[in-house]
Amino acid sequence: MKRRDALKVAALAALAITGASAYDEKLIVNKQKMQIKDPANPTETEFKHSPEIKIGAIDAQGFALVEVNIGQKGVIHPSVANHWIYEIELHADGKKIASASLEPIASRGYLAARVNTKDIKVLSAISRCNLHGDYTASVNV
Ligand SMILES: [Fe+2]
Repeated sequence: MKRRDALKVAALAALAITGASAYDEKLIVNKQKMQIKDPANPTETEFKHSPEIKIGAIDAQGFALVEVNIGQKGVIHPSVANHWIYEIELHADGKKIASASLEPIASRGYLAARVNTKDIKVLSAISRCNLHGDYTASVNV
C-alpha cells in the first residue's frame, strides 16, 4: 500500500469513529409515533415523554431562547443505561430547525436553541425514547 492510500484509510477510519454513537443501536426498540390517548388527562408515562417547550425573551437580534425539556409537569424522563431519550428535534411550522443527539447516562432530555420567531406560527418538538417511541408537543408562537 502506498503512503497516500494508507493516509486515506486512516482518515476514513477516524471519520467513522467520530461519527459513531457510544450506545448500541440495538437498544432502540421502539420508533413508533405515539399519541396521548386522552389529552385532557395524560398519564404519568405520557407526561414523562412529552416535550415541554419554553419560549424565552427575544434578544436584540430578534432571536428567542427556546428550551425543550423532556417531561412535563415535573415528571422528568430518566437517562439510564437501557432507557433514555436518544434524540430531540425542534420544528418551526413543520421544518426541522434544531436537533440534539443524547447518550444514555451522560446526557438527559434537553435541547436549547436561539430561534428567530418573527415569522413562525407553531413550534413543535419530537422526543424519541428508545423504549417508548416518539412523542410530539407543539406550542403557538
Ligand atoms: Fe421512555
